[in-house]
Amino acid sequence: MTTDKSVLIAPSILSANFACLGAEVDAVLEAGADLIHFDVMDNHYVPNLTMGPMVCEALRKHGVTAPIDVHLMVKPVDRLIVDFARAGASWISFHPEASEHVDRSIHLIREQGCRAGLVLNPASPLDWLDYTLDSLDFVLLMSVNPGFGGQSFLPQVLPKIQAVRERINASGRAVRLEVDGGIKAANIAQVVAAGADTIVAGSAIFGSEDYAATLRELRAAIETV
Ligand code: DX5
Ligand code: ZN
Repeated sequence: MTTDKSVLIAPSILSANFACLGAEVDAVLEAGADLIHFDVMDNHYVPNLTMGPMVCEALRKHGVTAPIDVHLMVKPVDRLIVDFARAGASWISFHPEASEHVDRSIHLIREQGCRAGLVLNPASPLDWLDYTLDSLDFVLLMSVNPGFGGQSFLPQVLPKIQAVRERINASGRAVRLEVDGGIKAANIAQVVAAGADTIVAGSAIFGSEDYAATLRELRAAIETV
C-alpha cells in the first residue's frame, strides 16, 4: 500500500553519541534518513535537559542540509521558536500544555518560515486539534511520555493515531502525522497501518551497529503494510 518514501523516517539524535554529533548526523543521513529529529528538553516541562539552538546552528554550520525537525519539550515556548528558526530549524513542534497562547505559537512558527506542529502526549485529548488543525503542517503524537529515549511504545496510542488520521483526511489538508517514542522494526508496521506517515526512531537506530541496515529493516517492515 505505502511506498517507502511516502513514509518519512526521522532518527532522534537524543540517542546519538553527543561526543561526535556532526559525524553521527552525517552517518544517519548517509544511511538514508529523511529528516533529523531534534529533542529539546528543559528540565522544567520535562524532567531532562538536552540541547539548545546553538547545537542546531552548529549542525547547519557543519554542513547538514536535511530538514531538522525540532521537538520542543520546553515551557514557555515562544522565545525558543524564534531562536530555533534562526538556528536553522525546518519543522518546529511544541506541546499545547506548555504555551499560554497556542494559536499565537503556531503562527509564530509559520511566520518564521518553518513548518508548524502540535505535539500531543499519550493522555492529551484530541480536542487540542479542534481549533488548530487548519493551521498545522503536522501533528506529532507521542507514543511514550516525553522526556527520555529508549522507553516502550504505549499501544493505547494506536487507536489515537487512527483517530487523528481520520481528522486529517476529513480536513482535506496535507497535514503530516508523526509518531514518536518506542518505535522499532517490530512495531513500525502497526504504527504506519494506523495512519502515521512520519516515524521518529531514536534508540532503534542509534543503538544499532549499522544505521543503513536498520533503516532498511524499518522500511522493509513498512512495506508489509
Ligand atoms: C522522547 C523523545 C523521543 C525519543 C525517541 O521524549 O521525544 O524523540 O528520543 O526515542 P526512542 O525511539 O528511543 O523511544
Ligand atoms: Zn521527540
